[in-house]
Amino acid sequence: LPAEDGADFAGVRVLISAGGTREPIDDVRYIGNRSSGRMGIALADAISSAGGQVTVVGANLVVRPSLPARVIDVGTAAEMQAALEAEFDSSDVLIMAAAVADFIPVKVEAGKIDKSRGVPEILLEPAVDILSGLSGARRPEQKIVGFAAEHGDAVERAASKREAKGLDMIVFNDISNPGIGFDSMDNEVVLITDDARTLIPKASKAEIADAIADAIAALLRSN
Ligand code: CTP
Repeated sequence: LPAEDGADFAGVRVLISAGGTREPIDDVRYIGNRSSGRMGIALADAISSAGGQVTVVGANLVVRPSLPARVIDVGTAAEMQAALEAEFDSSDVLIMAAAVADFIPVKVEAGKIDKSRGVPEILLEPAVDILSGLSGARRPEQKIVGFAAEHGDAVERAASKREAKGLDMIVFNDISNPGIGFDSMDNEVVLITDDARTLIPKASKAEIADAIADAIAALLRSN
């Protein structure tokens, strides 16, 4: 079923990042995160069913879209950045649902770090903020939506992040709340735009995705 409130994405090209990046330490090990990609894939399906033309850049996805969508599989934050930069110009909307590394190992050891060498020190450096980079390169009519995973009641922190990153909307979710978000089937979010904060109470990721799609359709209508 199409999203409620007449969300209509006919002719709209939507680029969605989903999943969690993995940054190798050596040829065997990596630093990753618990994102499954379920929220991003639910968004891909919601927008496809409303007629949108969806491209997913997916990092280590545990689930795949049910409806037709182009999927570009990536592993690391650098691969995700390259794929998104290649696709961004030909997109009308970017939804950055992926959990991207904030820190990456300075070097990747060849082979497998040998434990007989003792406990290794793994030096990290900041990762590129992909979302801020794309937002800085946007055309005015492109819509950009980010996600903010915060501990506790941090709606204000998420709202500041929206402004700092130059986003039309940020989707806040509280990762300290068990039963929603990472690894789970449900979510509960607050949609933060320039002029509104809207709580979407706990529901399946498919229902949350429909609500987010409706809000994005409203942003597109305001063009
Ligand atoms: N993001 C990104 N590139 C990164 C890290 C994050 O594009 N290297 C995007 C995420 O996809 C998400 C948003 O930025 O849409 C999250 O912002 P971030 O500042 O990383 O917030 P959190 O990791 O949620 O929180 P914190 O800054 O408190 O660690």
